[in-house]
Amino acid sequence: MLGLLQRRFSGLAILMAVPLLVAMLASVNLPPTQTARAGEPEPAPPADQEYTGAKRCASCHFEQYMKWKKDPHSKAFEKLTAKYEKDEKCLECHTTGYGEPTGFKDAETSKALAGVTCESCHGPGSKHEEICKPFAQTKELTPEQEKMLRDSIWMILPDNSCLKCHVQKAHKENPTPKELRTK
Ligand code: HEC
Ligand code: HEC
Ligand code: HEC
Ligand code: HEC
Repeated sequence: MLGLLQRRFSGLAILMAVPLLVAMLASVNLPPTQTARAGEPEPAPPADQEYTGAKRCASCHFEQYMKWKKDPHSKAFEKLTAKYEKDEKCLECHTTGYGEPTGFKDAETSKALAGVTCESCHGPGSKHEEICKPFAQTKELTPEQEKMLRDSIWMILPDNSCLKCHVQKAHKENPTPKELRTK
């Protein structure tokens, strides 16, 4: 009886997870006007920001960092194993900012950008950090200050940023090697 219940439950969990993922993907697959707070279009953050890596973000966003640590995105590089960590075909989706001037280069020089880190979804954040630092000790931000700080980084990169990696063909063109497959 319990076994049956558990089986039914996991089936149900899967059934519930599918629309959730679709909804997650769909909810960011919207024009920027609809993803921004209170229906306001989100102003573009300062350009030319450099990638900093997740630990630097953690110094101010510890809770988000701990959440991400448990998220499969944080393990995306380890999943490649040593054999594929230098394979160009894999790095675009399993690291952060690959191919951009300050993005991931290789495991030795840019360890902090291995995996799908904060900046894969929020964009590079060096200037966001600079802009926020002076307020680190401020107990309560005025609405204007908070807006200025929030506007210095994307809530989510525009242009279907999830779908950049989550394309149906991702692993048709670059098949997940048999020995690494878990499903
Ligand atoms: C010096 C502290 C500091 C650092 C470092 C920092 N942030 Fe922030 N961040 C803030 C503050 C302050 C806000 C304003 C809102 C709030 O209080 O959460 C903010 C807001 C945000 C937002 C909300 C944006 C919006 O549109 O509302 C995101 C996303 C974000 N940060 C991501 C990051 C990422 C990614 C990094 C690392 C690249 C990072 N932050 C580094 C202090 C920091
Ligand atoms: C276009 C983006 C993209 C490319 C290129 C890519 N991947 Fe992935 N990979 C993903 C996404 C998205 C997932 C998670 C969803 C899924 O499993 O399809 C994933 C998942 C995986 C997993 C976990 C699969 C499992 O069964 O648990 C492994 C291992 C992996 N990829 C290895 C590779 C290797 C090796 C390469 C290069 C030959 C590669 N990937 C190239 C996007 C990509
Ligand atoms: C796979 C994409 C992805 C990754 C990786 C990611 N985030 Fe986010 N983050 C989002 C999305 C989407 C939202 C907005 C929806 C939500 O609140 O969950 C968000 C919201 C936020 C917010 C705003 C919370 C608020 O309401 O003010 C902060 C701050 C943030 N993320 C920081 C981080 C930090 C720091 C990391 C890395 C340790 C990180 N994120 C990793 C996608 C991501
Ligand atoms: C830079 C590429 C990239 C971006 C951007 C990205 N993902 Fe992923 N995502 C991956 C990879 C690679 C994995 C597989 C990680 C692993 O198995 O270790 C993954 C795993 C996942 C999983 C777990 C899937 C599973 O089968 O275990 C979900 C859910 C997910 N991503 C949703 C999202 C959402 C929602 C966004 C946008 C807010 C997003 N991703 C943005 C590359 C990306």
